[in-house]
Amino acid sequence: MRISFCCLDTPPQPWLDGLRAAFPEAMVEVWTPGAPLADYAVVWAPPQAFFDEQTRLKGIFNIGAGVDALLKLRLPPGVPVVRLEDAGMSVQMAEYVCHAVIRHFREFDAYAAYVAQGQWTQRPPRLRSDFPVGVMGLGVLGERVCRALAQFEFPVNGWSRSPRPLAGVQGFSGATGFNDFLAASRVLVCLLPLTPETENIMRRETLARLRPGGYVINVARGRHLVDEDLVALIDSGHLAGATLDVFRTEPLPPTHPFWTQPGITLTPHTSARTLREESIAQMAGKLRALHGGAPIASLAGRVDTHKGY
Ligand code: NAP
Ligand code: GLV
Repeated sequence: MRISFCCLDTPPQPWLDGLRAAFPEAMVEVWTPGAPLADYAVVWAPPQAFFDEQTRLKGIFNIGAGVDALLKLRLPPGVPVVRLEDAGMSVQMAEYVCHAVIRHFREFDAYAAYVAQGQWTQRPPRLRSDFPVGVMGLGVLGERVCRALAQFEFPVNGWSRSPRPLAGVQGFSGATGFNDFLAASRVLVCLLPLTPETENIMRRETLARLRPGGYVINVARGRHLVDEDLVALIDSGHLAGATLDVFRTEPLPPTHPFWTQPGITLTPHTSARTLREESIAQMAGKLRALHGGAPIASLAGRVDTHKGY
């Protein structure tokens, strides 16, 4: 068996060591143009040339949860694409989102400003019931985030494509449920995959439906959000601010208004990192099953290329 590793911006050696330990019988190599044909690909943001050359693949393993960059490429037809499911990401996402919600709700930025001025000032307590959190996307990550928020007793609304009943979460689904979901939420968390249906989903007309004093947390993809609409709604006072981990262009260009916009907190696409050991362990199980002849339909984390996630 030959495994080709093609992950841009990822130092390859620790991955090669891990994959070789998991597959001692296999040839595991970093892809370079003209490399021998491999049976399986382990990829993150590969170039089109990789798939143009690698014509014998039996499985493509994406070392991330989102497959939007991969699905932009011409992929070999009929070859299963498998993404990471959780693999240590959901607990990170729950930490990140709960931190952002609590930091906003408990006004920690205001307290930091008082402390910087040497002031001992208490603000009036706020009501949790005034801060319902709406989570868009109730998949592997969204579900975990909803459960974590519910532990802090925030009212939680969830929105997905198909109905997904979750204990303690008010569920909404599909296009027909979207406006009611927005109107019921004050803090909006995006954990959707980026697809043609979800691109620009956070724009002026949708964000304006959030309760006054709304707050946006985008941990999915930059293209879910129309940047200038967010800034305009913060400037108008309808939105209180945002915590953003993902951007249309990454790294965020130095002249982008988000860097200096009051009310916006930025992080560099770090809310849920790919963890190497967990990811290799998960991939190894799936790759072995596929190689052993398991039906493609039985593979967990298989991407539906028509749905786009
Ligand atoms: P997932 O398990 O595939 O869940 C996707 C959820 O989105 C499902 O509930 C799905 O609905 C819903 N959805 C998809 N299209 C929809 C639409 N048009 N309308 C309403 N709901 C829709 O994905 P995941 O593993 O939770 O990951 C979600 C995303 O997080 C990834 O795609 C990636 O972009 C992002 N991510 C970001 C980071 C980071 O560090 N910032 C890290 C990992 C992942 P159904 O349940 O009905 O199918
Ligand atoms: C990271 O953004 C991922 O999709 O895993």
